[in-house]
Amino acid sequence: MAEFTQRVFSGVQPSGNLHLGNYLGAVRRWVELQDRYPCIFCVVDLHAITVYQEPKALEHATREVAAAYIAAGIDAQKHIVFNQSRVPEHAELAWLFNCVVRLGWLNRMTQFKDKAGKDREAASAGLYVYPSLMAADILAYRATHVPVGEDQKQHLELTRDIAAKFNHDYAERIAERGVGVPTTIGDETVNAWFPLTEPLIDGPATRVMSLRDGTKKMSKSDPSDLSRINLTDDAEQISRKIRKAKTDPDGLPSEVAGLAGRPEADNLVGIYAALTGKTRQDVLAEFGGRQFSEFKPVLADLAVEVLSPISGRMRELLSDPAGIDATLRDGAGRAREIATATIAETKAIMGLIDN
Ligand code: AMP
Ligand code: TRP
Repeated sequence: MAEFTQRVFSGVQPSGNLHLGNYLGAVRRWVELQDRYPCIFCVVDLHAITVYQEPKALEHATREVAAAYIAAGIDAQKHIVFNQSRVPEHAELAWLFNCVVRLGWLNRMTQFKDKAGKDREAASAGLYVYPSLMAADILAYRATHVPVGEDQKQHLELTRDIAAKFNHDYAERIAERGVGVPTTIGDETVNAWFPLTEPLIDGPATRVMSLRDGTKKMSKSDPSDLSRINLTDDAEQISRKIRKAKTDPDGLPSEVAGLAGRPEADNLVGIYAALTGKTRQDVLAEFGGRQFSEFKPVLADLAVEVLSPISGRMRELLSDPAGIDATLRDGAGRAREIATATIAETKAIMGLIDN
C-alpha cells in the first residue's frame, strides 16, 4: 500500500525571546528527530503579525529564532530552515483552508480566546483564522509528524479535521486524479490527499510553567522577565532567575505522587528531568527529601551548562545577519519547490484552473 512520505514540520513565532519552554517543549526535540525524518523548521513570521509587531523587532526576532534553531543543533543544510513569509504558498493554502474550516471549529479554539482577551471585537481577523494558516504550514508539505508543546494540541486536531474534511469533500476528484493515498482511519480506509498529521507531544517538558506562577505557562508575552529563562540569558541571569523561582516551603518528595498540587515544585523537577533526559521519578529518587535551597543551585548549574553553549553560538550567528538571511533564503527555495507542487495539485483537485 502506498504511504505518505514521512516528514516533520514545526515552527516557532518570532514574537519575542525564545525561552526554556520553547527549547524543551519544541526545539530540542526537533534536534532528535532530524536523524529519523526529513524535517522542515519554520520561523512563522506570518503568525507573529496576527498581533502587532514593531517591524525592526520582528526582523531581529526572526533572525534570533533562526539562530536558535541552528545553535540548538538543527542542520539547516541537510534539512530545511526558513521564514514563512518567504514562501507565499502558505498564505495561498491558508485561504483555501479558510473555505474548508467551519466557523464553529474556529470558535472552539482556546488560544484565540486567551489571546483576544475580553475585547474580542478588537482582535485581528488574522488571529481568528490563525489555525487555517497553521494547517497550511503543515499540509503544504503534507507533513506526517508535528512535534510541539501541549498548548498546540487543539490546533493540530483542527489540522486533522481540515485534512479529513478536504479528503471527504473532494474524494471523487482525488480518486479521478489518482493522487489519493489509502489511509486507514479507525476501521475505514479513505483515499486521502492530505495526511492526518500525528502530533508528537511527549517528554517531561511539554508544558514548562512560569517561574513566578506554577499555574501559568512560561511565555514570551509574560510581562515579568523573571518568569522565564530566555535562550539569550547569560549564566548570571539564569542562576538569578532559578534562585528567585517561586517554590513552596516543603522539601522535594521522593515520589511523583508527592508533586500533586505543588505546581512550582513539579515544574522545577520537570525542567531538571528534561535538561538531563531523565524522568521526574529518576530526579526524585536522587533529590527526594532535600530542600529547594539545595536543589536550586544544582538546577541552575545544569541549566547554565546546557544553555550557555547555545546562547554563545546564537550570539556568534547573530553577529552575521546576512549569513542567517542566506540560510533562510536557501531554505525557502527548497521549501517552495515542495509547497508549489502540493498547492498546484490541491487547486486542480478543487477545480481552480491554473494551466
Ligand atoms: P510559540 O512560542 O507559541 O511560537 O511556541 C513555539 C513552540 O514552543 C510550540 O511548539 C509550543 O507548543 C512550544 N511552547 C511554547 N511555550 C511552551 C511552554 N511553556 N512549555 C512547553 N512548550 C512550549
Ligand atoms: N502556532 C504555533 C505556536 O504558537 C506555531 C506554529 C505555526 C506551528 N505553524 C506551525 C507549530 C506548524 C507547528 C506546526 O506555537
